[in-house]
Amino acid sequence: MVVSPVQITTVTTRQLLELAEKNVGLAVVEDRAGQPKKAYELYMKAFEYAGIYLLNENDPWLKRMNRQLFMDHYPRAITIRGRHHLHGPSLSDKAKSGLGLAKLSDVGGLWACKKVLDEAAIVPIQNPHFFTGKRQPWKAILLYGPPGTGKTYLANAIATKAGSAFFSVSASDIVSKWMGESEKQVSILFQQARDAAPSIIFIDEIDSLCGARGENNENEASRRIKTELLVRMQRACNDEKNVLVLAATNTPYALDQAMRRRFNKRIYVPLPNVKARERIFKVHIGDTPHNLTETDFEHLARRTRGFSGSDIFCCVQDALYEPVRATCSAQFFRKTSEGMWVPCERTQEGAIKITRKKLNAKGLGSKIQLPPTTRADFDKMLARQKPTVSEDDLEVHKRFNKEFGNEG
Ligand SMILES: Nc1ncnc2c1ncn2[C@@H]1O[C@H](COP(=O)(O)OP(=O)(O)OP(=O)(O)O)[C@@H](O)[C@H]1O
Ligand SMILES: [Mg+2]
Repeated sequence: MVVSPVQITTVTTRQLLELAEKNVGLAVVEDRAGQPKKAYELYMKAFEYAGIYLLNENDPWLKRMNRQLFMDHYPRAITIRGRHHLHGPSLSDKAKSGLGLAKLSDVGGLWACKKVLDEAAIVPIQNPHFFTGKRQPWKAILLYGPPGTGKTYLANAIATKAGSAFFSVSASDIVSKWMGESEKQVSILFQQARDAAPSIIFIDEIDSLCGARGENNENEASRRIKTELLVRMQRACNDEKNVLVLAATNTPYALDQAMRRRFNKRIYVPLPNVKARERIFKVHIGDTPHNLTETDFEHLARRTRGFSGSDIFCCVQDALYEPVRATCSAQFFRKTSEGMWVPCERTQEGAIKITRKKLNAKGLGSKIQLPPTTRADFDKMLARQKPTVSEDDLEVHKRFNKEFGNEG
């Protein structure tokens, strides 16, 4: 049973949330009853409603609650899809953007990395018959580079695009205080990925699990996790099943050398160049009202040399907040022809001396309109922002790239 699709335009956000919850509930029932195809369809329907709800809802608490629904059930839906080779409905772009799923087009720059990942993760899933005879898809890929350059972001975007079972793990998911429990987690993880093949295992911050062996700070438990991971990875590489191990680190030299060898593709994720920075600015500003021109974007990209993607994201967030600050401290407002109140200068035509607080008190809070973000907002913010990646950090990555890198 599928909750009938209603016209999205005619329902309220509250109803969207109810539909999402109802469909998830039904999906869980079908899943338990051994009906994977029906369960998957219901899950996808629920996420579709949830994604559109998130786009239209402004209350951050409600947003968080709803995102939780998605976080709790999305991995299960994707696993069902991978395990039963389902090619049912997938999420629309609108729902994806509401749920905050990164798309490959949202990742600015990193063209070489995207190409390799496409080759390794997407092509074998979409066209498995290409890989016959001795031709094998890549089995293990390491992404390394300075912090904040988009390694985790890129892996998530690949997962969204591949639509295969995706197991995302970090050290905290695996490490347990109980003796022998952590190794078991590793072996379960690889077994599940094998069952759900074609699948991707993504190990974020792999250095924290697989630092060089024989170091002073190494204890028995961490040595055992490493050994288990090394063995499992070797098996996954030799196995004919289509399991891709993707890992990310920002300290590649800290990685155990045997582990390094198992990653037959090692890709450098560098700081963005000028073109990529321009794209990242555009991605993160998105459809927030602004009056920046193409020349302004070029200017911003030139001014942010040495900034990582994450630095640019922080800059954009800061600049997008400027209109809020300006509105909160404004002493004068004017009324527009649409009946909205916008902050203005004292000298402007129609300016009335009133504050945001007074407008709120008069019940006009929802009529206050923020001015668009301007280049001046960005200039103000750039004057106080600094890049977080130092030259020394960068040197280390370049050296590793020269010694061990393949692409990027
Ligand atoms: N190339 C990019 N395009 C668009 N956004 C980016 C890019 N790189 C980074 N970002 C932004 O920066 C945020 C942080 O990036 P991410 O977590 O992927 O960095 P990372 O390389 O995994 O860093 P770390 O090594 O510290 O884990 C992302 O959520 C995204 O908003
Ligand atoms: Mg990361």
